[in-house]
Amino acid sequence: MGKKIEELGPLYTIHCMGQTLHVLTKPELYQTFFDSPNLDFEETVFDAITKAGLINKALFIERHTKLYHAVKSAVSPLRSDHVSATMCHKFREQCRQFINIGVETSLFDIIKKCMYLPIIQALYGDNVGFRNKEHYLKFMQAFERFDRDFELGVQLPSIFTPKWKQARNYLLKFMISKFDEESKRGHDLTLFDELKIVTGEDAPNYAMMVMLAALSNAVPVAFWTLAYVLSNERVNNKLRAELDELLAENNYDFNPELNSADLKRLPYLSCCIQEALRLCAEGVVGRRVVKDFKLMGYDVPKGGMVVLCPYWAHRDERFFPDPLTFTPERWESIPINRMSYKQGFIAFGGGKSQCPGRFFGYMVIQKCVASFLLQYNCTAHSPVPKFSMQHLVGVQHPMEDFKVTCNYR
Ligand code: HEM
Repeated sequence: MGKKIEELGPLYTIHCMGQTLHVLTKPELYQTFFDSPNLDFEETVFDAITKAGLINKALFIERHTKLYHAVKSAVSPLRSDHVSATMCHKFREQCRQFINIGVETSLFDIIKKCMYLPIIQALYGDNVGFRNKEHYLKFMQAFERFDRDFELGVQLPSIFTPKWKQARNYLLKFMISKFDEESKRGHDLTLFDELKIVTGEDAPNYAMMVMLAALSNAVPVAFWTLAYVLSNERVNNKLRAELDELLAENNYDFNPELNSADLKRLPYLSCCIQEALRLCAEGVVGRRVVKDFKLMGYDVPKGGMVVLCPYWAHRDERFFPDPLTFTPERWESIPINRMSYKQGFIAFGGGKSQCPGRFFGYMVIQKCVASFLLQYNCTAHSPVPKFSMQHLVGVQHPMEDFKVTCNYR
């Protein structure tokens, strides 16, 4: 990576499919990028989000700051124990339903089936459920299509992406029906209610987009963490020892409902997640240039986009020695709450648009990965898959299946 940066320079320009992308590779300037008044997050994403969510663009622009804060406060660390109080339990229930003991299966498939429901209910309340297994699987199928083809769906005329459009409409209909049911009962405020306060009748459309941001990032990160851990005996043993120690100290059985205090006592688990996130981070974080300006002496004209590439930035050997290996220990000297501030690490973006769901996402991954490892011993049947590189704006998905066989511990 270092050599490539030397070859291309700290800022280079790509013209691709009618877009001009100025790629910034100098880590010392990442903060300048996030803070620059000449670069705008909203102008970068509005077209895509309004098309995907069938949201009125002018209204979205008007509401964006309030929306951002609604999401941030609904899933803030202060509320995390509350919103995810039964997450480990729900995750285990899903595992019982979808994991065939002793049978070779795709780990990514299992993790999606087991995590989608607990995450959706933590965000929108327990009422957002499914009639039966078939209904859940149909929902999953639509979500997978919507997520997988998102970047094509928001760029091409819908005539070229009929299945993506169909999936989007299915998910929106689902959200509208749940929103109607949810509004009828008295309960604690969920993100649905917060969105309703800001957006009124459009709340299901926004709820669908936040669901996309949550599931399409948190679930693959949990998958990669498990794939790397299960493929590395040393890491696997060390992590299981940490988990077993927590059980022994607390007199927990193998099915604990972990809270935030428990999670703080699992530092090696956090190192494993952080290391997986480093390796599987998204292709780009972008900002539209809204005013001509100069960056390191280069003219950057209005209209194009300046982008950072977390996937490549995280492979810079100056910040991450031996960058291609999965080494959770590289994070051990950093306090857990400072890990994501390490220079060169930009998986959650930055500045005033930094991911508002990052603490919640992290906690969800911790809970699900820990619950999985406490329940099952797994044999991996293939090496960790390659990254598909299809997700420029979300974390990477696997290119091939990663097959495992699970048995109860
Ligand atoms: C753990 C995995 C996650 C990763 C790696 C991730 C990454 C990101 C990144 C890179 C951005 C763009 C930030 C920027 O441009 O500076 C973003 C934005 C966003 N994320 Fe996350 N995210 C994750 C989980 C979540 C979760 C669980 C939620 C919801 C609860 C969420 C909700 C959002 C929203 C709503 C935005 C748009 C913010 C805005 O409108 O300004 N994310 N995320």
